[in-house]
Amino acid sequence: MKTTAILSDDTSLLGKIIERGGVVVFPTETVYGIGASSLDFEACRRIYKIKNRPSDNPLIAHFANIEQILEFCIVSDESLLLFKTFSPGPLTLVLEKKSDSIFPPDRKTIAVRIPSHNLARELIRASGVPISAPSANLSGKPSFTRRKDVIECFQNLVDGILLAEDPEIGIESTVVDMTKDVPVLLRPGKISQEDLLKVLPHLVLPEAGLQGSENKIRSEESIPESPGMKYRHYSPEAEVVLLEKKMFGESLSHYRKKDFGKSALSDKKAGFIGFGFLPVHSWDRVLSSNEDYMKELYSFFVDADHLGLDICYCEIPKDDPAKQALINRLEKAKNK
Ligand code: TXA
Ligand code: MG
Repeated sequence: MKTTAILSDDTSLLGKIIERGGVVVFPTETVYGIGASSLDFEACRRIYKIKNRPSDNPLIAHFANIEQILEFCIVSDESLLLFKTFSPGPLTLVLEKKSDSIFPPDRKTIAVRIPSHNLARELIRASGVPISAPSANLSGKPSFTRRKDVIECFQNLVDGILLAEDPEIGIESTVVDMTKDVPVLLRPGKISQEDLLKVLPHLVLPEAGLQGSENKIRSEESIPESPGMKYRHYSPEAEVVLLEKKMFGESLSHYRKKDFGKSALSDKKAGFIGFGFLPVHSWDRVLSSNEDYMKELYSFFVDADHLGLDICYCEIPKDDPAKQALINRLEKAKNK
C-alpha cells in the first residue's frame, strides 16, 4: 500500500500516529530510526516488510526514561549502573523481559535504550509507549544520517517523518548483552570498550576478528546469539577497500597507479574518505578525527551509491578508542 508520510516537527502529532499503530521515521543521536509502538506487534511487523529485514533479527525498543524500562524489563544493579553512567545516550542493553506485551513476542530478551536526542525522547513521551525502531535503512544498506536521505527513501513507505536535528554521532549504538553470566559486547559504538570496562571490568568481547587478534574471544561457548551479527550490513554498491595511511599519502594523485593493487584501475570511478589528504573529487571526504569519521562514513556510502562509484577507498581509522567501532562498520561494509 502506498502512503505519503506526514513530514513534521510536531512530536504530539507524530506521537499520536505511533500510538494508533503507524510507522514514523525519526532521528536519534546515532542514526535515523524507523519506529512503531513496541506494544503493537502488527505495526512492528510492518517495519520488517518496509525494510525487507530478516524476521529473526529483533528490534531495539526506545524508552523515554529508566522508569519506563523498569515497567517492561528486569534491570540488574549492574545494568542500572550502566544506564546511570551512559544514558540517555548511545548505549543499548539486552535485558530479560518482564512482560509478554512488548515486542518481540517470540523472545525472552529485549534490547533497550534511552536516546539522548531530545526530540526522539519527546516523541516517545508523546506516543505514551516505547518505540521499537531499527536503523532507518533498507536491510543491508548503510544507515541514514541525513534528513534528505530518509525523505527520499521513506516518504512513500511510512506514515510520518519527524523533522528534527540530524544525528550527531553517525553510527549505531553500542550494544551490550546483560542476560548472560558475564556482560558481552555485541556491537561496538561511540561508547567504547574502554568506557565500558571502567564500569564492567569483566566485559567479554565476542565477535572473533572484530577488533583484531588482540581481542579475540576467550571462550567460543560464551558467545550469545546476536541475530544481527550474521547479516550483511552497511554496504554501498561499490567495493570497499581499506587503506593504510601510507597508501593514502599526502596526495592521492598516485591512486591511479598500481600502488592500490588490481582494484584501482583508472577506469573505475573512485571515492576517498580519510584524514588530511588533498581530495581529488568533489565527493571525497577529508576528516579531522575518528568522531568525524563516524559522522561522515554512512553519508559517504549513500553518496557513493547515488554517484554510482565503483570503489570506496577508506583510510584505516586513527589508533584511539573510537577505532574499534569504525573498523567493525568498515569490515562489514567490505564483506558482501
Ligand atoms: O543506534 C541504534 O542502535 C539505532 C537507533 C535507531 O537507535 N538502532 C539500530 O537498530 O541500530 P538495528 O535494528 O539496526 O540494530 C539492532 C541490533 C541488531 O544487531 C540486533 O540483532 C540486536 O541489536 N538485537 C536486538 N534485540 C536483541 C536481542 N533481544 N538480543 C540480542 N541482540 C539483539
Ligand atoms: Mg541496522
